[in-house]
Amino acid sequence: MTDNRAEFAGRHIGPGPADTRAMLAALGLPSVETLITQTVPKSIRLNRPLHLPGPATEAEALAELSEKMGRNHVLKSFIGQGYHGCRVPPVIQRNLFENPAWYTAYTPYQAEISQGRLELLFNFQTLVTELTGLPVASASLLDEATAVAEAVGIAFRHHREKRSRVVLAGELHPQIVDVVKTRAEPLGIEVNGGEIDADTAAVIVPWPDTFGVFHDHSTVIAKAKAADALVVVVADPLALTLLEAPGKQGADIAVGAMQRFGVPMGYGGPHAAYLAVSDRLTRLIPGRLVGQSTDTKGRPGYRLALQTREQHIRRDKATSNICTAQALLANMAAAFAIWHGPQGLQTLARRVHAPAARFSAGLTAAGFAVAGKEIFDTVTVTVEGQAKRIAAEAERTGRLIRVIDENRVGISFDQTSVEEDLQALSGLFGATPPSEAELMLPERRRGENFMTQPVFHEVRSETEMMRYLRRLADKDLALDRTMIPLGSCTMKLNAAAEMMPVSWPEVANMHPFAPAEHAVGYRAMTDELEGWLAEITGFDRVSLQPNAGSQGEYAGLLAIRRYHHSRGEAHRKVCLIPSSAHGTNPASAHMAGMDVVVVRCTEEGDIDTADLTAKVEQHSQNLAALMITHPSTHGVFEEGVKDICALVHEHGGQVYLDGANLNALVGLARPGDIGGDVCHMNLHKTFCIPHGGGGPGVGPIGVKSHLAAFLPGHVEAGTEHAVSAAPYGSASILPITWMYIRMMGGTGLKQATELAILSANYIAERLKAHYPVLFKGRNGRVAHECILDTRVLKESAGIGVEDVAKRLIDYGFHAPTMSWPVAGTLMVEPTESEPKREIDRFCDAMIAIAREAERVAKGEWPAGDNPLVNAPHTAAETLAADWTHPYTRLEAAYPDGDPDSSAKYWPPVSRIDNVAGDRNLVCSCPPIEALAS
Ligand SMILES: Cc1ncc(COP(=O)(O)O)c(C=O)c1O
Repeated sequence: MTDNRAEFAGRHIGPGPADTRAMLAALGLPSVETLITQTVPKSIRLNRPLHLPGPATEAEALAELSEKMGRNHVLKSFIGQGYHGCRVPPVIQRNLFENPAWYTAYTPYQAEISQGRLELLFNFQTLVTELTGLPVASASLLDEATAVAEAVGIAFRHHREKRSRVVLAGELHPQIVDVVKTRAEPLGIEVNGGEIDADTAAVIVPWPDTFGVFHDHSTVIAKAKAADALVVVVADPLALTLLEAPGKQGADIAVGAMQRFGVPMGYGGPHAAYLAVSDRLTRLIPGRLVGQSTDTKGRPGYRLALQTREQHIRRDKATSNICTAQALLANMAAAFAIWHGPQGLQTLARRVHAPAARFSAGLTAAGFAVAGKEIFDTVTVTVEGQAKRIAAEAERTGRLIRVIDENRVGISFDQTSVEEDLQALSGLFGATPPSEAELMLPERRRGENFMTQPVFHEVRSETEMMRYLRRLADKDLALDRTMIPLGSCTMKLNAAAEMMPVSWPEVANMHPFAPAEHAVGYRAMTDELEGWLAEITGFDRVSLQPNAGSQGEYAGLLAIRRYHHSRGEAHRKVCLIPSSAHGTNPASAHMAGMDVVVVRCTEEGDIDTADLTAKVEQHSQNLAALMITHPSTHGVFEEGVKDICALVHEHGGQVYLDGANLNALVGLARPGDIGGDVCHMNLHKTFCIPHGGGGPGVGPIGVKSHLAAFLPGHVEAGTEHAVSAAPYGSASILPITWMYIRMMGGTGLKQATELAILSANYIAERLKAHYPVLFKGRNGRVAHECILDTRVLKESAGIGVEDVAKRLIDYGFHAPTMSWPVAGTLMVEPTESEPKREIDRFCDAMIAIAREAERVAKGEWPAGDNPLVNAPHTAAETLAADWTHPYTRLEAAYPDGDPDSSAKYWPPVSRIDNVAGDRNLVCSCPPIEALAS
């Protein structure tokens, strides 16, 4: 029998042996090892294999993980506390959640190839504005706790950082309080329950509170208004389908978790949080916002709006660092709302409320004290010293309830609760629920007249839903159709075997606060994964909690901050950051209470060591950290990186290594050995978690042992300083990375890195005659990505980088990263997963575009009317009766001269006008009445 253990690596890696030989030949190299020796500085090379288990086949890895996760003891959860059982409609599970057309897409920065996911995100925003009664909603945040913290950030900025108090007007879930306190402390914001005064930036109103009770907050809201403090309402979106919208009650901001809109609990995530604001706060809204604009033909089209607010522009002035969010899960929530419609959602909400009201009535009749008269789904019962005993009994019936303290338990009903649950849970208290009970909802209700937009009424049959999701997906270019060569984003294969475990019930249906002994399978998987990531990166401890790269940065910098504080060096606040850094770096540093000092880069793209040395020396006494990306955001390995780390250490600073480019390091070098004290790993880049059209993501951090005590904790574990709502952040997608590492083994991972570097160098070689390749390392090599300078086309033909990016769409490609880190350039990262044939197709397209530009330069095509400036071309224009352009229809739509009509991608819109869209911001569908007028 042949040993097929390495079979998976062979399939994950696109180029086969013959392709590898051909690429090496093009580079004039005898072997991959020669290339790696030329590319990766000897001083940082790892001279031993990674200590990881050998590769497993797909079947073996699945069986091994299944055995592990099978050790989870998944009981029906009545814990609530922000996480609820729900039913994922199978039509959404299969056609969206498990559909690569949706989960392999990238963040919709290129609007024209993203209309499908933008449309659904726009519907998500509309849903949120309808539920909250506030006019502008973002396209998702990472989780409920960070969303509340983001709301605090808005309030802080709204008051120009001059007010320093946040008042909690009621009991929030403990995990929210902890995250808000973590985020508030470095900014000097005090969070407490005291009086509202002139220093109060925001008042946070839970609706309902952590005990499930709706209180009347009208007095508090009036006081907040009088003090000009912002009112932040934290509300359950399912309850809001029955209740008056927070906007009507005076909320300036509303936030909450959309998990129970058809997204599994997944042991804590991922799921989307929502955030909506009043008009005056629009420009302070964190994260991504989908807006509507028009294309060149005046057709409506969606695009990401107000990008100028993002950290890329605000950098160290930003109060939010969010980048990757939860697009896929927001889209699931939107699809759930479209599937059920407003009345369906209300029916669902009533079905959740009814057992809670009956349960409460039964307990009251049996003499128990229950919290509050107005509730939605949660009953908090006083049980005088009996909480643990009752929870244990509930467990024996197969149900988990919340132990609040010795004397109180909480029971939350959800979409999956049935009569048997109600009877069994009542029985624990010796109570009998009445067959019907009075509604216990607050008086402030909404009628039926909401979500009136057609989209929430049109899709009712499964056939329509399946086609609706397909129609949207067909508008987009995702990895299931073409290479997405986005530099710094690492759009590699998300293999089917890696994705399958995410849907397993023992992975999907676990509550994050289930007793530890119920999550032993999860724990076995996370322990192993932490160990593997520590070995791969050279660190002593790993925290899996941060649920995006940005959150990893933040958690890592907080660890550094707390380390300095623990040594009595709280004055160490200066964070040095090279000018080429990703925008999240300075934003995270600012949020961690540090002062950013920018370090120059050289013409070659390296850190300017003279400037660095000068700044390290100048700030020696106050140096907190240096944040560097390695290989750099310019796509090169810096020769002197070890010396740079040593210099920072000599001056008492810590080194934060941004691990976004780990795909160039795995198996070849380790950030921990290079000198990093802490590093985040984007599992949604190097370790195969799909981008989902803008999230989910996972951004674990590895730290050296001296920082281990400062990793994020969690209230459920009796510790503090959490950065995410759940102890393991987006736990249910961690099996994707586990599967990847398990199937690749150490040798497969190293080979993947080598091929990623080979493919990037091959592209640089093929395209260098047409586009200067900026920034090369020693021996003229790039790392795993290369920056192509398209400004030459601007000079010769007036063709801008945007024209090249949009013309690539006509060739069937998603553009590379545009104008970052250098304006007017494209950063190309092929990854190891792309077959050589696809890489060649891309290079051919880029060369053809350079030739098209030449024709413009020569005057064959006018500067204002050529296939580049008019790109992309829709089917409607190309087939229109009158064709007035100086190039042919074929040249417009089938520019590679080899029309494969079945594979042709037709963009649904032509170029979108971003500027006009920002000027006339439309971020949600108008209500039907507005259309009628
Ligand atoms: C270099 C770099 N650092 C940090 C980040 C932020 O990571 P995330 O989007 O996961 O928050 C990115 C994202 O693309 C990046 O490229």
